[in-house]
Amino acid sequence: MRSKYCGNLGIKHIDSEVQLCGWVDRCRDHGGVIFIDLRDSSGTIQITVDPEQGSALFKTAESLKNETVIQIVGTVRSRPAESINNKLKTGEIEISAKCLKILNPILSNLPFTISIHDEEPLKEELRLKYRYLDLRRERMSKNLKLRHKTIQTARNFLENEGFIEVETPILTRSTPEGARDFLVPSRVCEGEWFALPQSPQIFKQLLMVGGIERYYQIARCFRDEDLRSDRQPEFTQLDMEMSFMNQEEILDLNERLIASIWKTAKGIDLQLPFPRISWEECMNSYGTDRPDTRYGMKLQNVSSIIKEIGFKVFSNAVKSGGSVKCITIKGGNQTISNVRIKPGGDVFNEAAKAGAKGLAFIRVRDNNEIDTIGAIKDNLNNSQKIELLQKAKANPGDLILFGAGETEIVNKTLDRIRQYLAKELGLIPLDKESEVWNFLWVIDFPMFEFNKEENRLEAIHHPFCAPNESDLGANTKSWGDKLPKSRAQAYDLVLNGLELGGGSLRIHNPNLQKEVLKTIGLSENESSEQFGFLIEALKMGAPPHGGLAFGLDRIIMLLSGEDSIRDTIAFPKTQQARCLMAQAPNNVSDKQLKELHIASTWTNDE
Ligand code: AMO
Repeated sequence: MRSKYCGNLGIKHIDSEVQLCGWVDRCRDHGGVIFIDLRDSSGTIQITVDPEQGSALFKTAESLKNETVIQIVGTVRSRPAESINNKLKTGEIEISAKCLKILNPILSNLPFTISIHDEEPLKEELRLKYRYLDLRRERMSKNLKLRHKTIQTARNFLENEGFIEVETPILTRSTPEGARDFLVPSRVCEGEWFALPQSPQIFKQLLMVGGIERYYQIARCFRDEDLRSDRQPEFTQLDMEMSFMNQEEILDLNERLIASIWKTAKGIDLQLPFPRISWEECMNSYGTDRPDTRYGMKLQNVSSIIKEIGFKVFSNAVKSGGSVKCITIKGGNQTISNVRIKPGGDVFNEAAKAGAKGLAFIRVRDNNEIDTIGAIKDNLNNSQKIELLQKAKANPGDLILFGAGETEIVNKTLDRIRQYLAKELGLIPLDKESEVWNFLWVIDFPMFEFNKEENRLEAIHHPFCAPNESDLGANTKSWGDKLPKSRAQAYDLVLNGLELGGGSLRIHNPNLQKEVLKTIGLSENESSEQFGFLIEALKMGAPPHGGLAFGLDRIIMLLSGEDSIRDTIAFPKTQQARCLMAQAPNNVSDKQLKELHIASTWTNDE
């Protein structure tokens, strides 16, 4: 139906005849000559319809509505100098039309304008309801092309490294990645359920037992969890697993993979290796395991200085096992008023959202005199004051904000304030030229964290991560005691404060695997019921193995400069986990439910 794509035409095609297909991006009547911007997936080109080409052709052109699907035949010619459009790739040429055929007219009012000339922001609901129209717009088509290019680069890289792509099941059983499962009732096996995979974790490990050695997959994962701008119920991982590789070898391969993606997508040479930081140091310095290292304001622990002072809020926090930490805002005396830090102020509100009850502060004046509200000042002697200012790395003009109490809340509070103020004070370069890509490996995670609600330890990543060998020791009898405090051979890749991916070396010893399942509170029966097939496989020649998965949607979000992964997915769900276009989820007939041996207990009053 066509001889060329619109966006690929250029001066080298002048005088040739072309047949093009696409959508009418816009149509203008300029005193007897009609200009049609014709758009296809490659770009747009200007079509000129002169009256001399015949009245039938001219009439058809006059009647064209935007987005009509047409086919044209015409000759490529250069544009007159005054109408050259440097903003358009094809701006030096135009097509003089000889024939124009309407392939499909517009029969309905368009809910919004699609033209490349229109950049008006649209309501997301409208975009999602008519996603097929939104995809025709430049923003989404660019993002999807970038997504494709990224996947293509990853495939090339991994295949050159000897990886093969293997698909794993979608209808499977629950995988413990920490979210709720999406369940699918089985019609054939009455009363039983499949779960959609939260990740291909167990299957990829079994592929290693199966001798595949280097596996990857562009894997769809399903997690029923609260949604945010970087979370979808259905998302895609760039997932991999490899045998006979140690942690450093896995990190090295993955940073080369990331570098090849950034080179292709952004033309940027990333500096390798990426920095590595232990989880412990990361939590101490940033209060989070996914820090944004594009700016300073690191957390400083001042518990030891503060522990003996008479200011009870501080000293009691330390005495009861918590801590006092602070961040220093350079020049904060100027930029942040007391009103903002006191109850009701925006900075205070951020602290409150993280669970803090108060937000103590010190302003450093000339000659290192300090100013505070409340009792800190009166309770600090001169040497404590100097020690505190040194520890906080504070100078005259700076503002120091404190968190005191349970360490977890202190960390959350100061992390939140740090991020808030970095944006607020413009510490993050936003323009393209000064864009910074701060990758960071966070390593040496603990194996477990305590789940207060369930009063048990739970795996931080998942229960298949291998513990650090020196933490565990060689004596298999003491594994049970040593495991709860062991670090895992696990790693996360963080970019500018966002977790891009994570993985670990896995347990290949069946007894150790059983011990870990016991540590998270599973009885022997539960372990063998849920993971018996994995433990069995580990007994039959499982190689040492490990892997990692990147959130592909998140990678594209950062590469494209979007704020939400919804803008990187062709047909995403809303924050309420709905597809507004297909109107899913939706009701099903009683007959279908009956066949599946299920009945809904939902009532309207729930
Ligand atoms: P993890 O649970 O850390 O690890 O997931 C890996 C990466 O997937 C992305 N991600 C998400 N992206 C969008 N929406 C979501 N709901 C969502 N949840 C996670 C994140 C995350 O870093 N099986 C392990 C990997 C391994 O150990 O090899 C796993 O799934 O970018």
